Amino acid sequence: MPAYAVIGAQWGDEGKGKIIDFLAENAAIIARYSGGNNAGHTVINDAGTFKLHLVPSGICWPHTMNVIGNGVVVDPEVLLKEISENKLDPSRLAVSDRAHLIMPYHIVLDKLEEAKRGDAAIGTTGRGVGPAYVDKVSRQGLRVGELLDPEDLALRLPEIVAFKNEIITKIYGGEPVDLDDIFALINKWASDLAPYIRPVENLIADALDNDGKVIVEGAQGALLDLDHGTYPFVTSSNPTVGGTLTGLGMGPRSYGGVAGVYKAYCTRVGAGPFPTELHGEEAEQIRVQAGEFGTTTGRARRIGWFDGVAGRYSARVNGFDAMIITKLDILDGWDEIKVCVAYEIDGVRTDQFPVDAATLDRAKPIYETIQGWTESTRAITKPEQLNDGARAYIKKLEELVGVPTKILSTGPRREETLVLEDFLA
Ligand code: IMP
Repeated sequence: MPAYAVIGAQWGDEGKGKIIDFLAENAAIIARYSGGNNAGHTVINDAGTFKLHLVPSGICWPHTMNVIGNGVVVDPEVLLKEISENKLDPSRLAVSDRAHLIMPYHIVLDKLEEAKRGDAAIGTTGRGVGPAYVDKVSRQGLRVGELLDPEDLALRLPEIVAFKNEIITKIYGGEPVDLDDIFALINKWASDLAPYIRPVENLIADALDNDGKVIVEGAQGALLDLDHGTYPFVTSSNPTVGGTLTGLGMGPRSYGGVAGVYKAYCTRVGAGPFPTELHGEEAEQIRVQAGEFGTTTGRARRIGWFDGVAGRYSARVNGFDAMIITKLDILDGWDEIKVCVAYEIDGVRTDQFPVDAATLDRAKPIYETIQGWTESTRAITKPEQLNDGARAYIKKLEELVGVPTKILSTGPRREETLVLEDFLA
């Protein structure tokens, strides 16, 4: 049985959590591969409403193993809270021994660095994600597996903390972190997390060898990718499909399908170019109706029309073979809906997405106007319930992105889903 990836195709917040919960019914494993608790996945089903930041969105199915891969950065405080809130035992959750730890000094540094950037701030979530990845790359990071070897940690930590405190106090004029407090935290994390720490690549390989379905859960989105996104207004990991391989330790031949999750319009949180951004009443109407406020930070999300140029770029860098469209129902009742089909940059029309943030900032969207529909698509579950207007809109998005639609999300609850074609077939 192959693996299937479900990847954010825009700037995150596409509704991946709901889709994963829907698809997870017959999965052996749901696996997160990148990012940290900067993510916020909302899952709503008969068991309640779950707002998850770190644990995968397969936790509502009793038979499903949820894994946090080596590519994720883990704040143990957040992980332990989610474990306890959702009563997850080690038969339901595993965390890679090679995932890096988000330490208290990473959170302090994330906030200090952002404040120092002033007007050029990225608008990070302030969860320490960027600084933790910096330490991973500069080989100063601490890995989850090291919690199992406290003696080695006791040797390394004082030097690391002293170094971080120099940066915190001397460069940023901040308050130093306390080494003893960190040791106390580490002891707690070590005893509470030990049963969950595993080499997760073995779990995945074994599941695939034994005909188990593995669903790989994206966090953030392709346009926030460190390499393929709108750098420097990006996150510090690779949400695109390449990140799934390094972030979980699996090979490309494992894949039976790679789906991009696209919202029927666009949103973005934090700073950075957003060519189709709407301002004023139209944006406010969508924001309020769709509850476009961050699950992690509560920030109001920026709103824009569907961007076909960015959408096609995203499909190409990920090799999507399926499109999953969410929040279609939010567009019910609009007289007209705009879709961006090309950009004009410095007077020249283009359908190529410029990843350079300064160039993208100059891109003016060229729109096609699509006739809206009056019928409700909310909660519909059958293709024959789809009205002609909505059908034409989806067709337009498929034409722009170049990938067929397999699933439509028509509401936040698990059952408010319309399958056009089985993505897991
Ligand atoms: P960081 O990932 O906290 O460093 O933030 C970097 C950028 O990515 C900021 O613009 C954040 O708003 C954005 N970002 C990070 N995680 C998410 C997410 O899950 N959804 C949407 N935007 C995100």
